[in-house]
Amino acid sequence: MSSSGCASKGRCSVLLNASGCLDALVAPDVARSLDAFVTKTVTPLPRDGNSPVRIAETDVGMLNSIGLANPGIDRFLTRSLPQLEKLGMPIWVSVGGFETDDYADICSRLDDHAAVSAIELNVSCPNVEAPVESAAQIVAAARLATRKPLWAKLAPAVPDIGEVAKAAQAAGADGLSVVNTIRGLKLDPRTLRPVLGPGQGGLSGPALKPIALAAVATCYRATSMPIVGMGGIRTGLDALEFVAVGAQHVAVGTTLFAQNTCSEQ
Ligand SMILES: Cc1cc2nc3c(=O)[nH]c(=O)nc-3n(C[C@H](O)[C@H](O)[C@H](O)COP(=O)(O)O)c2cc1C
Repeated sequence: MSSSGCASKGRCSVLLNASGCLDALVAPDVARSLDAFVTKTVTPLPRDGNSPVRIAETDVGMLNSIGLANPGIDRFLTRSLPQLEKLGMPIWVSVGGFETDDYADICSRLDDHAAVSAIELNVSCPNVEAPVESAAQIVAAARLATRKPLWAKLAPAVPDIGEVAKAAQAAGADGLSVVNTIRGLKLDPRTLRPVLGPGQGGLSGPALKPIALAAVATCYRATSMPIVGMGGIRTGLDALEFVAVGAQHVAVGTTLFAQNTCSEQ
């Protein structure tokens, strides 16, 4: 397993971007400052995403309802991946879908690409209709489709994330990415109508950190699996807290949108 697709506890520790929070082709220098780049979630067909407004700031973090806008796997493989390869860094591809076969098909198409060092299965996007199959069923299907390291990205808003983590492990995941955003709502104070086009969106940033820390601690206790911890990380101390509760790796997301990411240090 390549070092930055590493899924073995204690061997390596990497800094990643959170999926959907960095375009490596627009900001290659930022991408190169990471140990590996995680793509925006790729789906079988191209998606325009949700109707605007798709991003809103709140007092405690950010709401987004992007809705998995992406070029689809065909264009990703012919256009995006060759350009990403030129960055010369390990690439984790985030994979999404609406049924188990979507995930399995994309995983099998990524399997032969040497530049892809790991696959993150986004089984937890709050902004699109969730697949009817469970996270474990999706992981099991993906496992049959690829030899790449598989990281299951989990949602925080479930009754028992430890059980989901155990099921993903039993289904063949090599690691866990913890956590995706949690659904939130912002109202326009003048109209008392939702600010985001689709109404609700995924909350990320500082408000998510205590929830994410608890989720990482629970998943680590339940499985001892390698975990990419994320949710509101802005400083080195934030990252250290995730490592202290069991994360092997850490990812930064919303803070990459900030004007001055060092202002809190
Ligand atoms: C604008 C935006 C787009 C996102 N797109 C994706 C995505 O395509 N796939 C995914 O798995 N997570 C996506 N996420 C969730 C992040 O990867 C991450 O799990 C979450 O934002 C928590 O980390 P943070 O608080 O550091 O941002 C997105 C988050 C934001 C803010």
